[in-house]
Amino acid sequence: MASTPLSKFAYQTLQQGKSIAGLAHKELSTKLMELMAPDAVPKTEAIPAELLNELRSSMSALSECDWEDAERGIYPTELLFDAPWLDWASRYPQVWFDLPSTWSRRQQRNVRDLPDDTEPSLYPEYYLQNFHHQTDGYLSDHSAELYDLQVEILFNGTADAMRRRVIAPLKRALRHFSDRAPSSLRILDIATGTGRTLHQIRGALPHAELTGTDLSEAYLRQANRWLNAGKQRLVQLVRANAEQLPLASNSLQGATCVFLFHELPGEARQNVINEAWRVLEPGGVLVIADSVQLADSPQFSTAMENFRRVFHEPYYRDYIADDIDTRLKDAGFIGITAESHFMTRVWSARKPEPTDA
Ligand SMILES: C[S@@+](CC[C@H](N)C(=O)[O-])C[C@H]1O[C@@H](n2cnc3c(N)ncnc32)[C@H](O)[C@@H]1O
Repeated sequence: MASTPLSKFAYQTLQQGKSIAGLAHKELSTKLMELMAPDAVPKTEAIPAELLNELRSSMSALSECDWEDAERGIYPTELLFDAPWLDWASRYPQVWFDLPSTWSRRQQRNVRDLPDDTEPSLYPEYYLQNFHHQTDGYLSDHSAELYDLQVEILFNGTADAMRRRVIAPLKRALRHFSDRAPSSLRILDIATGTGRTLHQIRGALPHAELTGTDLSEAYLRQANRWLNAGKQRLVQLVRANAEQLPLASNSLQGATCVFLFHELPGEARQNVINEAWRVLEPGGVLVIADSVQLADSPQFSTAMENFRRVFHEPYYRDYIADDIDTRLKDAGFIGITAESHFMTRVWSARKPEPTDA
């Protein structure tokens, strides 16, 4: 699709439409909760008008940046319009039907309501929870089928635009390997979930060899349905703990990790960074995207606090105060950069070559 003023207008309209739909959904579902399960209503702080304006303007800055990256050819404009619209529309009623069980878990402070056939020895202890009060945690097809739509609603339609922020730093750093065939580049998406980030990366790097890992088989099954049904290059999907990847050392040129860190205890965060360092070849790049933090976005502290109160996110408070730059340095990474886009912070770091010493 050529980028024309008309297509830019179409993109802005789409984003505004998604934002209105997301806000309306949240408003209505909160009203319903107040009516039907008043004990489940979380005590949130009021958002001052100033913060609302700040949120609105950083959301339009995100859309602008997304559009500009597409115009610069970092990824195709088509990606900006791409989503499984029909699938989401058909699943939307399920999002509503799922709400009462979410309220009930919240009322009972039940955060360990997982499917009966869950085999605990397959997962780290911190994982066996209903993050964001999700029905079945990450451990069922039902959860995997609703996840993308729920995240899209949570972020008012900006989830993919935030995920795409990893692409520019990734492609920039991969220039280091520009003497190699594009098809020889190996890129891993750690904790890929249902594969939305891999979908964006494949749009930008159609010849690269892509792998996604995650602890949830159900999420990987959903990723397989989205990613491997068409004629594009196949994506490999492997069930693995991000702290212990079943991949050879020095075997990848790039690794990405989106929206995982806020769901990990600090020690696991460090283990994932160390593991990414191990599997990357010298010169390779790690790009992490996750929630903004208190140090770089103090103006959003009320929004961060409310997020923690509304959703079961047991490690979020620790994460927003964590020093990821230091963790990256401790693992041995160099050339660390970080930037914020709306509610997402993106870090890029390079594994040094022996000549960098
Ligand atoms: C919030 S979701 C993010 C998924 C995806 N990256 C995205 O952008 O939507 C967190 C994902 O991390 C996975 N996860 C959590 N802890 C993990 C671990 N230690 N190893 C591998 N995957 C993990 C979960 O199964 C889930 O799919």
